[in-house]
Amino acid sequence: MQKAVEVQVSEIASRGKEPVADHGSGQSRVVLEDISKSYGEEWERQEVIGNLSAEITPGELTVIVGPSGCGKSTLVNLIAGFEQPDSGRILLNGEPIRGPGNDRMVVFQETALIPWQTTYENVVFGPRLRGELSGKALKDEAERLLNKVGLREFMHKYPLQLSGGMQRRAELARALINQPKLMIMDEPFRGLDAMSRGLMQEFFLRLFEENRRTNLFVTSEIDEAIFLADRLIVLANRPSHVRAVIDIRLPRPRHYSMLSSPEAYAYKREAMGILYEEAMKSFRNTAQSQDFMDAMSKRL
Ligand SMILES: Nc1ncnc2c1ncn2[C@@H]1O[C@H](COP(=O)(O)OP(=O)(O)OP(=O)(O)O)[C@@H](O)[C@H]1O
Ligand SMILES: [Mg+2]
Repeated sequence: MQKAVEVQVSEIASRGKEPVADHGSGQSRVVLEDISKSYGEEWERQEVIGNLSAEITPGELTVIVGPSGCGKSTLVNLIAGFEQPDSGRILLNGEPIRGPGNDRMVVFQETALIPWQTTYENVVFGPRLRGELSGKALKDEAERLLNKVGLREFMHKYPLQLSGGMQRRAELARALINQPKLMIMDEPFRGLDAMSRGLMQEFFLRLFEENRRTNLFVTSEIDEAIFLADRLIVLANRPSHVRAVIDIRLPRPRHYSMLSSPEAYAYKREAMGILYEEAMKSFRNTAQSQDFMDAMSKRL
């Protein structure tokens, strides 16, 4: 089974030998300075993020791990500029983030492909709308990226005609064509079956390792986090803040078998230990802690 995955991954990843053209833009730094965010009316106000400070480092894959509901997507929305923090600042290469921009591309956990457009039309949609690339240059770039993500033969199919994994790859191509300074992935492989998920993780890693585009990847799966990360940010339960930063020094290129190495196991124990402590703290305080404990117990 593993062999089949390897063959597919290397086959997809080796298509289109040249790296994605990077106009020097993929090496960005994001600094989060003492961010707080609450929701709800004054009398039922709920602090989701509280005094969170962190850094997303250039050319690295930073992974944020935290249990379901702890505020990961809220953080993504803030960095993407869809929402503003109540206090604190978020800087992208030294400049405050004031709103959304195509310098930051987000791949969400739910598919965001436009259903009545083909895969190709979805990929060219952004640059065409902004008039940045057109004609042959746009077509060539879209086809090169679709080739790279293994969807050349499916470019005229509609999203509903693609499998879940293919839809994620189409979204990757659609994001990459914008040459973002920062790629943000919010649990992009959630909901895929285990086999597709493993395949997508390796495929995504090959893309990252080729270009080293600054990447923020959000997940609630410890194994996924350790497999992908250069730096692992472990969130404390709500109000969310950084509980620990763990440098993952597994060699690259990564291979799934590395997850069973003693080093990977040590990282997993460390991260699990921290999350468990957080679970115990919230267990004493809140009703939602049972969900947290249920989620954790599945992974211990
Ligand atoms: N726009 C909003 N209005 C009110 N509450 C919100 C809003 N966005 C998020 N929340 C609340 O903030 C909390 C954190 O939600 P968020 O989606 O950020 O968590 P998450 O860690 O991404 O969860 P999941 O793992 O399930 O994706 C939840 O309790 C949610 O109800
Ligand atoms: Mg989320």
